[in-house]
Parts: sequence; C-alpha cells; structure tokens
Amino acid sequence: MLEQTKAPIIETLKNCAQKLHAPFYAPGHKQGKGIPQPMIDLLGTKVFRVDLPELPELDNLFAPESVIQEAQELAAETFGALHTRFLVNGSTVGIIAGILATCGSGDKIILPRNIHQSIVSGLILSGAIPIFIHPEYDYDWDMALSVTPESVAQALAKHPDAKAVIMVYPTYHGICGDIVAIAQQVHKYDIPLLVDEAHGPHFAFHPELPTPALTSGADLTVQSIHKVLGAMTQASMLHIGSKRIDLYRLSQALQMLQSSSPNYLLLASLDAARQQMALFGEELMSQTLRLANDTRNRISQLPNFAVFENSLNLGFVSLDQTRLTIKVSDMGLSGYEADQILHQELGVTCELPSLKHLTFIISLGNTKTDIEHLITALVSLSDQSYEGKVDEATKLELSLIDFAMATSPRDAFFAHKYYLPIAESVGFISGELICPYPPGIPVLIPGEIITKNHLKILEQVQGLGGIISGCSDPIFQNIKVCKVKTTQKGFIAVLT
Ligand SMILES: Cc1ncc(COP(=O)(O)O)c(C=O)c1O
Repeated sequence: MLEQTKAPIIETLKNCAQKLHAPFYAPGHKQGKGIPQPMIDLLGTKVFRVDLPELPELDNLFAPESVIQEAQELAAETFGALHTRFLVNGSTVGIIAGILATCGSGDKIILPRNIHQSIVSGLILSGAIPIFIHPEYDYDWDMALSVTPESVAQALAKHPDAKAVIMVYPTYHGICGDIVAIAQQVHKYDIPLLVDEAHGPHFAFHPELPTPALTSGADLTVQSIHKVLGAMTQASMLHIGSKRIDLYRLSQALQMLQSSSPNYLLLASLDAARQQMALFGEELMSQTLRLANDTRNRISQLPNFAVFENSLNLGFVSLDQTRLTIKVSDMGLSGYEADQILHQELGVTCELPSLKHLTFIISLGNTKTDIEHLITALVSLSDQSYEGKVDEATKLELSLIDFAMATSPRDAFFAHKYYLPIAESVGFISGELICPYPPGIPVLIPGEIITKNHLKILEQVQGLGGIISGCSDPIFQNIKVCKVKTTQKGFIAVLT
C-alpha cells in the first residue's frame, strides 16, 4: 500500500514556487510578474507562481522518474491499474494514443458506431480500418445503448484478424453494457479491449456505481477526471490493465500527441483529485448518490417530466445513477429549446441537450442548493405552454445511421475533395466529420457513403436548434465529398 495522503506534484510545486531564484526559462511571465492585468483581475497572482515548466525538481511527463512517476503510481493504485499515465489534453489524447498503440495502417479495429469524435481522429492518424457494430437502441428515449457480447463475438468471428476492440462504457447518458462478457469475448482472440470510460472515473469509489472497466477486464481505459471528479478541465488519465498493451509504443504515441510543455496546474489537479478520491472517495460518492437519487425521485413526481431509469433492454446492464436524463418532449419542447430557456432565463445549465431530453451530471461538486434551483426551474418550465415542435412521436433515430464505409477514414481525410450541395450528396463519399455537438457523436465520418438517413438526421438536428460541428461550410448547405476513381472493384478515393 502506498501513502495516499501524499500529493507529490502539489508538494513539489509549492516548494518550487517559494524558492527564491532568477528565472531565465519559459513561461515568459516568470511566475506571474509579466502577466497581463486582465488575467490578474480574473485570477489573482498566486496561481501564476506555480505555472512552472519541467524544472529538474518537477520531473518530465514523458520520461518520469520522480514526482510525476510517484503521482502516477499513486493514481494506479487508487484506480486499480497496473500503470497510469497523466493526460493534459483530455481523454481525447488518451483515446488516440490507445488506438495508435494497438493498430497500424490497414489493421482492423472493432468498435460501436456511437463513438466520440476522438476515436475517428485515432482512425485517421493510425490508418486503422473500422469494423463498426450497431449499438443497441432505446426507441422510446431515442438513445444509443451499448453493444452486446453477442454482436462483438459475431464481429470477431467475421474478422478474427482484428487488432483491438473499443467499447464506450458508460455512454454519455450513463448507460453501461455487459463489459465483463465483452472482455471475455475479446480475450478469446488475445487482443486488447480499449475502453472509452471518459464519463466513468468515479465508478471505482462506490459499490452502488457500475463496475469500473479495469475490474471488468479492460486492457486500457481512458477517464476524463475533469468531467466527473475534482480535476481541472482537460486533466484526464489513461490506465493500463494488462500486458496486452505495448507500453513503449503507447509512451511514444503520448509524446507525439501531447505538448512538450505540459501544464503543471493540470498535472497538480490530477494529483489532488486522486488524493481526494483515495482518502474520501466512498464518502463523497455516497453523498453524490444520495443527492442524485433524491433528485431523481423528486423530478419523477413532477408532471410533464419522465426520468430515464434502468431498463431490461439489450445493451443495458446498469445505469450510473449520478447521470440524470429527463424527457421534456411531452411538453412539446425539444431538448435544445428547453436547454435555452433553462440556461438563459432560469439559471440552470445542463450537460447535454438532445432532441427530446436533457442530461445533467450530478457530481461531487453539486450542492443541495443546486438541486433546489433545478427543481424550481423545472417547475417554471412546465408552468408555461409551448408551440410543440417536438412530441412523443418525434425521433432523431440515430439508430438509422448507416455505416457503409467506401474507404478508410485516413484515405478520405487525405483525398482530393470538392463541394456538393447537401441535397445532391447522397451516394458520395463524405470527406468530412459531421457531428451534432454535444454529444460529439459523429453522424458522418470521413470515408462513409452519404445516405438520405444521414441528411435527414442532420436536417432535423439543425431544424430543432442543435449545433452541427465539423462542417467546413459554416451554414451547412454544402458538404465536401471525396473525388473518386472507378476501378474494377468499385471506386476508390483519389489521394492527394
Ligand atoms: C464519450 C466521450 N469520450 C471521449 C470524450 C473526450 O474527452 P475529453 O473532453 O476529456 O477530451 C468525450 C467528451 O465529451 C466523450 O463524451
């Protein structure tokens, strides 16, 4: 057992900040003395005293041997990993590195379609060939669930040469699939299961939360400590659970993707978040669960709102009870419209608006006062009447997303492209990643054949006030498609 009361990065930063010396190194503001006044007005001066570079005492993120190594070892013990790596560019960078560490150009990787766009970036950078499987779908709630062990087993049987499988666990809505059985299927082929656990870093700290990926058989998992625990935005961790991951290649990938000047405020916040959870994790999660369950009960008693609960659907094993999704469409409101009213008029801001519902993250930072605001705001929301653009029958049907790939995401990314009016683009190969944001799950990825369903979903999101990101035409009337060359085997993208 390591000494979890320690916080090596924090302690060393404090010492370095106090040490009198003449600084002739970056950053240029020299511990705040050159910081512009508006930043001092915003933050004060103290924070800049510890905005330090990789001084000898502060170790090196890419070849750690002192304080960073110690902090990562403490984190590995707390989260139950063999090894942990600190990330300063979000889970995004860990997911891409996980793909680069396991798949090369032309290697197959099995993954669900409801992936975050960072996975698509990993496909582009690695040149891996995605073998998509449909996640299960909840048609009442219009929400993607998990993939099942059976669908993963089928994909593996068809593609026994796949180099890795990726799973999203939990989904943005807190839905957890049967990760234990999926890991067993994947390990029959002795390949790694990579887990996008961006939304699940708290799972290790309370028995009533879903089982953490690491104890379920994940070989590599990436967690956004900043999303749910106490770290600063962008601070994430990558954990290794087995020897199936080549640590040297992973380190090379992380060094390639992350800044060579990692921000110590972010590293310190990871150190502190680990210490907080190691010392008080169960207590904090008990409080959070109590708050979340109480909120669930109160909202489900309000007229006009349904709260998303556990279900017997395939692709659904458990729900993170701290993730609260409530349906607003029964009032004739879309989630996007409800979000605007709540944010602009009622002082409540959710994490994720969707077509028919809103998702709220209840975490260790929330208070009873926040919950009172939420309940009061929902009561005001339901006291008004709305025009009714959306009703029970409206569906976004992300389940209809097709995934016929014409070429690899990497080839499409580098292909010659030209603009076509959206309405004329059906049957062409998308050259762009088009994504309603949030949740950041792409509707079209580079290399995919555009169908009427894609366009229908995107039109619907736009018509109902959602934001479409990734499209190079800011008003989304044109889309970049890949130039193709016809061959005997069909057509291929023309590379630049
Ligand atoms: C499912 C999922 N995976 C990965 C990410 C990327 O995480 P980060 O913002 O820490 O880079 C997100 C971000 O929203 C996400 O929702």
